[in-house]
Amino acid sequence: MKGYKLLLKNPRVLYVKLGGSLITPKKEGAFEVRERIVREVADDLLRISRERSLFLAHGAGPFGHAPVKMYKLHEGFKPGRELGVSETSIRVMELSLRIASLMREEGLPVLPFHPRSTFRRIGGGTICDLSAVRAWMDLNLVPLTHGDLIYDDERGVSVLSADEIPIYLVPLGLEEAVFLADVPGVLNEDGEVISEITEANIPDLGRSAYDVTGAMRGKLEAAFQLARLGVKVRIAGFSERGDLIRVLKGESGTLVRV
Ligand SMILES: Nc1ncnc2c1ncn2[C@@H]1O[C@H](COP(=O)(O)OP(=O)(O)OP(=O)(O)O)[C@@H](O)[C@H]1O
Ligand SMILES: [Mg+2]
Repeated sequence: MKGYKLLLKNPRVLYVKLGGSLITPKKEGAFEVRERIVREVADDLLRISRERSLFLAHGAGPFGHAPVKMYKLHEGFKPGRELGVSETSIRVMELSLRIASLMREEGLPVLPFHPRSTFRRIGGGTICDLSAVRAWMDLNLVPLTHGDLIYDDERGVSVLSADEIPIYLVPLGLEEAVFLADVPGVLNEDGEVISEITEANIPDLGRSAYDVTGAMRGKLEAAFQLARLGVKVRIAGFSERGDLIRVLKGESGTLVRV
């Protein structure tokens, strides 16, 4: 298999997260997928994949947030919560399979994998072994993962957000991360997109009642951490084909800077 090594089109990796708020009716709490959006994002990704190496993820939306909240799994594991862990894992797998199938139908060679098999929290830190996933990328397969529950040796279980995942991809050569959501970027108090955000101009971010990973606040924490690691980060919306291409050109969304 030596001949298949270093097939990456570009050793620098672009991470794109399709937010749960974008791909599902998260605010209504419905276990549904916005198929048109997923197909049109996939179409943009297919074009981008001709020049750049991709690592994809999607948020869990109600598929993850609802059972986690119902069984209080964001507070950790307790005896009696086993079926909640099981239900959350199955729900996010169902969602992931739907997203993966739609993307494959659009011609994107996605390879779904589950964080709970790859990531663990040990002593408050996070460890992962992505060597197998990285090897698949040499065959031009596009990893697709998602927010998930992972094992935690102190709390039993812990939520791993797909906003946090790219932090662990820096050693793979992560160059840029784009978080797509149901808002066109980070909004100021007047509801306008802030084109560039630093820790000095963060707007008031109310903690959302329906989210267990901090909604925009949690996303920004991860985004600043990534920016500090030298990764270019954007938070943006997506309403139609071509929007992701425009985001990458810097024509829309919020650029997160340190
Ligand atoms: N200043 C702000 N600018 C933009 N969005 C904000 C702001 N303050 C709060 N929000 C909320 O943050 C939400 C986006 O975060 P949320 O976690 O719900 O989306 P997501 O990360 O795409 O979903 P998931 O966590 O399921 O992947 C927006 O829909 C909005 O309601
Ligand atoms: Mg979120």
